[in-house]
Amino acid sequence: MNFTDVELHLDADLASTKNLTEIQNLQIKYLGRKGIINKLLDNLSKLSTEQKKKQGKAINDFKSLIENKIKLRQKLILHTSFESEIDLTLPGKKRQIGSLHIVTLAIEEIVRIFKTLGFIRMSYPEVDWEYFAFESLNMPVNHPARDDFESFFIDFPRHAKYGRLLLTPHTSSGQVREMKRVKTPPIKMINIARTYRPNWDASHTPMFHQFEGLCIDKNINITNLKGTIDYFVHEFFGEDREIRLRPFHFQFTEPSFEVDISCSVCNGTGNVKNIKCKLCKSGWLELGGAGMVHPFVLKSGGIDPVGYSGFAFGFGVERVMMMKSGLKLDDIRILYAGDIRFLEQF
Ligand code: DAH
Repeated sequence: MNFTDVELHLDADLASTKNLTEIQNLQIKYLGRKGIINKLLDNLSKLSTEQKKKQGKAINDFKSLIENKIKLRQKLILHTSFESEIDLTLPGKKRQIGSLHIVTLAIEEIVRIFKTLGFIRMSYPEVDWEYFAFESLNMPVNHPARDDFESFFIDFPRHAKYGRLLLTPHTSSGQVREMKRVKTPPIKMINIARTYRPNWDASHTPMFHQFEGLCIDKNINITNLKGTIDYFVHEFFGEDREIRLRPFHFQFTEPSFEVDISCSVCNGTGNVKNIKCKLCKSGWLELGGAGMVHPFVLKSGGIDPVGYSGFAFGFGVERVMMMKSGLKLDDIRILYAGDIRFLEQF
């Protein structure tokens, strides 16, 4: 057979192939070890070196032509078989639409509320020096108040002035950084960030979120603190909720308070139909800490405590989110378990 005969043969063969198995058989017939092309090569041995070179090249070019023709047919079959396999009556594939995490939604709402009061959201290092987390906030080394802030320390050389490096255990670590950044008040910032403490049980995750407000200016007093938190609570929880400031102790504020919010179940009375309220037991639920910025902290930030005063507060995002939604989680670790069945409900 000469090249033309082979090609005619192949064209006829290709025209009758209907599926990939038949294509494979043709590949063996023409290009296989005992195939037609290899037979053509067999004859080369009888030729002179010069002729061998010429004929060898001709056969190789011809082989490429055959290969291409087979490939082309293969593509065509693949394409048409794919189309004929699509059943147009089948229902379409539902595209999954993502949603924001419930904690992200709460953060967005908190930012929106404080923005209307002129608070600007700021970010500070999530991994910071001990100095900003503790010393600058009037919590010296070995002070028992630091026991409440068990922390994840980073294996990193100590800073001569700022001490060890740690994952921030509270958002208060942004306070002195903000004072140093602004230098001259007014300061009105809200810091919403991840915080870390080594606790892992049904009501604690080692990573959680806090939001911290800091307001410093001339003549800032407790009324401003109460008004600000009042406004937040009304916007976030509803007009009917009230707050109270309960004296407390924090190293970085003086005076310090725990902020409580009236319970939505018993309306702050502590009783439902003469029975002690099961949710709060007292009429009030604890929201978080607050107070007037301690002069020591103002000085750490380079601000003169005689000319300026300020208030600060720090609340848990997960906590307010659950209080608002009425979400009762047996185990709050589900918030960060990445389980779509839980997350897609919000
Ligand atoms: N940093 C405190 C904590 O994590 C919360 C806190 C209390 C923040 C009082 C404040 C404050 O700004 O004034 O427990």
